[in-house]
Amino acid sequence: VIFRQLFDAETWTYTYLLGDPDGGGAVLIDPVLEQVDRDLQVLADLKLSLKEVLETHIHADHVTAASVLREKTGAKVSVSRHGAKEADRHLKDGDVVEAGAVRVKVLETPGHTADSLCFRLHDRVFTGDTMLLRRTGRSDFQNGDPGALYDSVTGKLFSLSEDTLVYPAHDYQGRMMSTIEEEKRLSTVVGKTREEFIAFMNAIDKPKPTRFDVAVPANLHLGKKS
Ligand SMILES: [Fe+2]
Repeated sequence: VIFRQLFDAETWTYTYLLGDPDGGGAVLIDPVLEQVDRDLQVLADLKLSLKEVLETHIHADHVTAASVLREKTGAKVSVSRHGAKEADRHLKDGDVVEAGAVRVKVLETPGHTADSLCFRLHDRVFTGDTMLLRRTGRSDFQNGDPGALYDSVTGKLFSLSEDTLVYPAHDYQGRMMSTIEEEKRLSTVVGKTREEFIAFMNAIDKPKPTRFDVAVPANLHLGKKS
């Protein structure tokens, strides 16, 4: 499978491209509106045609390119069953999204937001903002729930095999990836009971993301400008 990690410097967002080298089908995970031209060029360069756009959740820090990419390529947009209503498909735990040889397995991992998903492909997992590197995403807006986040990370993600590669939606220190083994030793969930983690998360006092008031309303409609 063709794999590319793409970066948006304005919002520190990683977008992931997964492609079938034989059939030519491709999946984009978490594309950013401002990077549509770049992403279409990469697809063209690699002779791939976009079949599926996946969202790990309704983002609060950037506007998704999902609806623009759907218009331009005819790709289907798949999101959580708790995500944007206008998606082509609403995903639940255990679902599989396919583009030729690319088979992505869906994990429902609520906590960062109510609609948070992780996606598995072979030896790697795309963790959105559920699990970032050495810590989790925040859980203080969009129906975030620190207890659910603890369960998603320690129950679902930590049960993956330890050599699974971890690709998050962001890393603000320029680290690109990790493994389940590293996060099981070094994540902020480690060494805390569920109650301790809830208290730890509730004590974090962070401002809302800069683009929150633009990004969330747009992303509820897959990034369409109203
Ligand atoms: Fe997020």
